[in-house]
Amino acid sequence: MDKMVIEGNKPLKGVIKVGGAKNSAVALIPASLLSDDKVIIDNIPNITDIEALNEILEYLGAKVKRENEQMTIDATTIINRSIPETISKKLRASYYFMAALLGKYKYVEMYFPGGCAIGARPIDQTLKGFESLGATIKVEGNKYIISADKLVGGHVYLDMPSVGATINTILAAVKAEGETIIENAAREPEIVNVAVFLNNMGAKITGAGTNEIRIKGVEKLSSSFIEVIPDRIEAGTYIIAGALLGENLKIENIIPEHVESLTLKLKEMGVSFEMGSNHICVNKTPNLKAVNIKTLGYPGFPTDLQQPLTVLLTQCNGKSTLEETIYENRFKNIPYLNNMGANIKLVNNKNIEIIGKTNLSGQEVTATDLRAGAAMVLAGLIAEGTTVITEIEHVLRGYENIVQKLHNVGAKIRIE
Ligand code: EPU
Repeated sequence: MDKMVIEGNKPLKGVIKVGGAKNSAVALIPASLLSDDKVIIDNIPNITDIEALNEILEYLGAKVKRENEQMTIDATTIINRSIPETISKKLRASYYFMAALLGKYKYVEMYFPGGCAIGARPIDQTLKGFESLGATIKVEGNKYIISADKLVGGHVYLDMPSVGATINTILAAVKAEGETIIENAAREPEIVNVAVFLNNMGAKITGAGTNEIRIKGVEKLSSSFIEVIPDRIEAGTYIIAGALLGENLKIENIIPEHVESLTLKLKEMGVSFEMGSNHICVNKTPNLKAVNIKTLGYPGFPTDLQQPLTVLLTQCNGKSTLEETIYENRFKNIPYLNNMGANIKLVNNKNIEIIGKTNLSGQEVTATDLRAGAAMVLAGLIAEGTTVITEIEHVLRGYENIVQKLHNVGAKIRIE
């Protein structure tokens, strides 16, 4: 198992280029199966989650060519067979194959997906989406057998705006007969990216990015090209790094609107930054103000940034509060931050209070999940002394070349 070692408290200056969004790429790759021709996806991030999806593509018999950031997928040769649980358990996004295979073949057998252990993460809304199209679901232990004589456009109201259920319902509906309406759909930019990709193939999806999405089924989908949008969570993580240690640290290849819920909070705290059309320059600023944060679906403050942001809250003066409304178990980083010297009170599994400002000192800590791991990296960067982060593979699932990117701007960081 790899460890990350960080010698803390080094200023960060220079440029960090943000890669393609993990949560777009992991949906675009399974979506490619729906095409009756070759597709090209550009700006694919270099992360281990993509390797896991490649394994599934190859298992199904797709022809995949990967050159730098570009992936060409020819899924015309695939066989619809049950993906082994050992592979589907590697990541959450494996269940996008469930929807794509159902949409293409009207039959799929698949196991419950994996993903970070941050809450219960049921898939009932995805299954409700499939049922609204006329599919029947049989559950055998962890295995789902989903079938339909034909898929017919349906009307589904999601109980919560779930990203996964929205994308899965779109994937299953693009080739159904007639029109599907998804109400209370999630509005994340990654969903728009997937809809544009499918529309480029010839699908008829409108309303992606709003809470009502309409899909008119088509018979055939052709070749398509799409560029993965910049990763707003990776961007946000480095923007926070800039607020902690930046000397005019430039984060480039961002879509400013996608990180606005973060930058508006930074403004409230008093962080000094300058926003360009596709970049931001951020500075470490003294005397930051404490703030209150509540996570919400897009365009609200993203749950995926709350753990990294907690590290910045330890550097604000006074009491900040943070409410996590999406997941039940996303504070596993807190005991480690407290061991390093933070003063964070776990009020319950949804709320924490952070009292600042506190100095952090290097310790041995664990990356319990992807974003908790990112928080520990940020904590290590500002700590006095050496921080060793175990289970770093969680971080490598979602942050491409993180060691190189931080090293290039002055961090003393390595993997052992
Ligand atoms: N939920 C249900 N039933 C469902 C679906 C969701 O109860 O059928 C609940 C979940 O348990 C959760 C909430 O609804 O409490 C939101 O879940 P959602 O479906 O939106 O999340 P997801 O699709 O599983 C994606 C990202 C997550 C990100 C969330 C929220 C991918 C592969 N994952 O997960 O990313 O936190 O949306 O934005 O796209 C990460 O990158 O670190 C990460 C966890």
